[in-house]
Amino acid sequence: MQIRDLTLPDIEEAAALWHDVGLTRPWNPPLVDLRRALESSASTVLGGFIGDRLVGTVMVGHDGHRGWVYYLAINQAQRGTGLGQEMMIAAEDWLREQGAVKVQLMVRSTNEAVLGFYDHIGYESADVQVRSKWLG
Ligand SMILES: CC(C)(COP(=O)(O)OP(=O)(O)OC[C@H]1O[C@@H](n2cnc3c(N)ncnc32)[C@H](O)[C@@H]1OP(=O)(O)O)[C@@H](O)C(=O)NCCC(=O)NCCS
Repeated sequence: MQIRDLTLPDIEEAAALWHDVGLTRPWNPPLVDLRRALESSASTVLGGFIGDRLVGTVMVGHDGHRGWVYYLAINQAQRGTGLGQEMMIAAEDWLREQGAVKVQLMVRSTNEAVLGFYDHIGYESADVQVRSKWLG
């Protein structure tokens, strides 16, 4: 798998992957999220390609204090072959280059299946509550 920053011509394929793996939500329009992350110098979306085909993504951003990871996805047919871990290593490398010393991520409470993956690659549970507010 080759990993590189996505560019605008890739975003439809990335949105389709997110849809297929169940990561899209009506309040997070994927094309808007992709454009925003690619347009900022503090964030990017890395894509994993086998040949020309996009098989994995991870969105990364540095907020000036912590690094954050979103939209980790591996195409169903390629799961269990180490690609998810490779994408996370690439995300961590990107964040290190930005000066981040810690990386955090949020897992939906309905997505328990993925918790074992994060445990396996060294992500500890953090004893925090997340609160959020829409900025209109
Ligand atoms: C999470 C996801 C990216 C993992 O991708 P993957 O390519 O299958 O994972 P890998 O093959 O790199 O797994 C790395 C290791 O974790 C283990 N692992 C993977 N998923 C696991 C799980 N759910 N529970 C326990 N261990 C798991 C693998 O067995 C592998 O172990 P090994 O190092 O001993 O071989 C993939 O399942 C996915 O896209 N899920 C849907 C989208 C999603 O929920 N993303 C996270 C949003 S927070």
